Amino acid sequence: MMSALWHPFADMSVSAGEKVVLQRGEGCRIWDEAGNEYLDATAGLWFCNVGYGRRDLIEQAAAQMGRLPAYSTFDVYANRPALELADRIATLAPTAGPSGVFFTSGGSDGVDTAAKIARRYWQVAGEPQRTVVISRDGAYHGMNAYGTSLAGISGNHDGWGPLVADVVNVPAQDPAALERALAEHAGRVAAFIGEPVIGAGGVRPPAPGYWERVQELCRRDDVLLIADEVVSGFGRFGVWFACEHYGIAPDMIVGAKGVTSGYQPLGFVACGDRVRSLLWEQGGVFRHGYTYSGHPVACAVGLANLELIEIESLRPRVEALTPVLSRVLTELEREPGVAGVRSAGLLGAVDLAGAEADPGLPGRVVAAARARGLLIRALAGGSLQISPSFVISEVELERIGETIAAALEAVGVAEVGR
Ligand SMILES: Cc1ncc(COP(=O)(O)O)c(C=O)c1O
Repeated sequence: MMSALWHPFADMSVSAGEKVVLQRGEGCRIWDEAGNEYLDATAGLWFCNVGYGRRDLIEQAAAQMGRLPAYSTFDVYANRPALELADRIATLAPTAGPSGVFFTSGGSDGVDTAAKIARRYWQVAGEPQRTVVISRDGAYHGMNAYGTSLAGISGNHDGWGPLVADVVNVPAQDPAALERALAEHAGRVAAFIGEPVIGAGGVRPPAPGYWERVQELCRRDDVLLIADEVVSGFGRFGVWFACEHYGIAPDMIVGAKGVTSGYQPLGFVACGDRVRSLLWEQGGVFRHGYTYSGHPVACAVGLANLELIEIESLRPRVEALTPVLSRVLTELEREPGVAGVRSAGLLGAVDLAGAEADPGLPGRVVAAARARGLLIRALAGGSLQISPSFVISEVELERIGETIAAALEAVGVAEVGR
């Protein structure tokens, strides 16, 4: 009988009948129900920073479930893991001034929360006309209504009819375009949101000096700066947050994924002093929140995960692996069928030549890699995502390159469009 499972981001006319049922994982390796072993080159959907099978995280989750599986943090209620994780994130997040941390269930509702906080901030600050939120071309900010509206990947943004109004999308690498948008909507802009490195839009690092200039423009025009660090947070650039790497201190940082390495769903918005103090002191009741905001099991796992990143020195490990990934991708660039490569931290992309003319090509390469024991993923625009767990070895990174090369050869990718 056909399963009722409706897959996200899938054509169900294909996915209903064709499934890879994954069963267990250890480190960077995953096994399916048929016993096939895979090297996971993407850490799931860019989340499993510490790798699979971590006893500490599993035990912390079980222990917290035994004590108190869940209770809301609405009104005056709290739980010890939520209190401790909020303080830990506030210490690590490089926001402008000390943070207040608002928990969500994942990245999409983190983005919607940040956008609503920005809108609320200006209501309370006495400038209710500031309702415009500006985002970047190629951006992915989750799939809730605000995030879909802010999306800079047209395939994700289009096809729903009008969603949230007052969003403006600007070219991704050009601060002058932002400056023009600020002038066009002068006095009406609430916030600018961007991923430090565009992720799902093709792993696109910023142009040199981009973020410093964006921060300058936001400060000049009193616009709130929101960094979406759902992918880049918690060590993928060696530092805790990519904002440190690019030298910026935003008003809000959205996080998810790597905060628990995906062992539990959890997201948050860390709000710097300007936002926190106004809304805490003068905002009245903030009528927003989720049943699972500050979920004790998710927060207990988050604490254990951050501890593991620290005690196993996984951030220095990322720093050591960064040039290895860069070298592997540079070697791959010589392969017929590769139009270009990019990497930043432990994040990389391989552009496939011919993907524009043949939109089915990335999917065939992904399937050929899977048949050779490698899990990779196709991104918007026809590139392949590489974002392994931090416990990956140099040999395994080499294997990613070799297997992609073999997959390209197997699908017969021609050297076109270089
Ligand atoms: C930059 C960014 N923001 C937000 C999200 C949404 O997170 P979630 O899928 O946990 O809702 C993602 C997911 O990939 C993301 O990459």
